[in-house]
Amino acid sequence: MDRFVIEGGVPLRGRVFISGSKNATLPLMAAALLGDGPTTLFNVPDLRDTRTMADVIRYLGADVRFEDHVMVIDPKGFQNAEAPYDMVRKMRASIYVMGPMIAKLGRARVSMPGGCAIGPRPIDLHLKGFSALGAKIDIEHGYVVAEAAKLHGAEFSLSGAAGSSVGATCNVLMAAVLAEGETVIHGAAREPEVCELIAFLRKMGAKIEGAGERVLRVTGVQSLHGTEHTIVADRIEAGTFMVAAAITGGDIIIDNAPLDHMDAVVSKLHEIGARVEQVPEGTRVWGNRENYSPTNIQTWTYPGFPTDMQAQFMALLSLVPGVSIIRETIYVDRFLHAAELNRMGANIQVLNGMATVVGVPKLSGAPVMASDLRASAALVLAGLAAEGTTIINRVYHIDRGYESIEKKLASLGGKVERVSDSAPDEPLALEP
Ligand code: EPZ
Repeated sequence: MDRFVIEGGVPLRGRVFISGSKNATLPLMAAALLGDGPTTLFNVPDLRDTRTMADVIRYLGADVRFEDHVMVIDPKGFQNAEAPYDMVRKMRASIYVMGPMIAKLGRARVSMPGGCAIGPRPIDLHLKGFSALGAKIDIEHGYVVAEAAKLHGAEFSLSGAAGSSVGATCNVLMAAVLAEGETVIHGAAREPEVCELIAFLRKMGAKIEGAGERVLRVTGVQSLHGTEHTIVADRIEAGTFMVAAAITGGDIIIDNAPLDHMDAVVSKLHEIGARVEQVPEGTRVWGNRENYSPTNIQTWTYPGFPTDMQAQFMALLSLVPGVSIIRETIYVDRFLHAAELNRMGANIQVLNGMATVVGVPKLSGAPVMASDLRASAALVLAGLAAEGTTIINRVYHIDRGYESIEKKLASLGGKVERVSDSAPDEPLALEP
């Protein structure tokens, strides 16, 4: 089980390239199963999660070749309509294969994902959409069993208690594109990753209107063909590196930040007092912690402040004099990083989905435990700014969503070293 050893106190300087978006790649990999021919994806990030998804798709009978950030998926052998517990528990996004299974094979038997470190993670909205399209849904021994001789168009809402759902919108879209007739989805998610899936499905021959809006209109088609697509840069990785520059008082250039999708994150950095500016070489991010002010953050669905950046900003705000309030509205339990930050000297209180962050003059390095992907990122950021040595255990969490983050940080002058040992990486709990 690998761990990171971080020596803090070095302001990051230099240039960094952002990898392809994990959360755009995963639904596109599943959507490739809908085609009658092979699909090639370029700029695919080399992550635990993309490799896990490739294994899931191979298990279903398709052929997947992944080399040097290029992935070729040939769905010819796609016949297996079952995604077992052992696979789904490793990565919740495995449930993205349900839509293609139901649409192409007329059946699906997929393990319920269950909860994970950031919350209960229900899939009721996914199932609501599938049944509206005509699938018969049963829950048997921890599995969702779906049967649908033929899917038909329908009009329904996918808005839930926490607003729209990225996963449900993607999953149900992947079924609706091959359903007979018109489908209207109200309360659709508008995240850039959903828009990228829509663009990809349209390249395959799907008929979808309304990308980026709350209402999507789909006209079912008989079949879809394979295509080629280049994955957009990861807006959460880019945001994480912006915070890395801000928290260390550094000055970096991000070659390829998808700024069009980052308004909420950039405006929060400006509010705090960090600077983000488009320059000819890319996006320059710099700051001086002496000039920072506290701020309040409420996570929300896109284009609101992304929940996937909440932990990283908590690390930053823990060093900003004054009181900052963070409200988490998407995953109310997504605060496991607070206790670990407090072990480094932060002063954070969490109650009822809200964190009160009282800035402290310094953090001190300590051995800490990663609990989930973005919490791990927050601990890396805190370690980069802390005095002394921070040891982060179970970095397999961070390897799920960041490609070689320690190499990228080291290229910016960060003192981050990966230490491997023989213990297996097997996740102990259910994974987000
Ligand atoms: C996606 O998860 C992302 N994962 C998450 O990123 C991200 O945090 C989340 O969207 C929100 O932006 C991937 O794209 C692989 P949701 P997803 O369905 O689709 C509730 C990361 O760190 N809900 O939009 O699972 C749910 O409980 C990961 O990269 C239902 O109630 O999120 C939550 O409160 C973590 N019923 C809210 O909706 C459902 O059927 C948003 O969830 C589905 C969701």
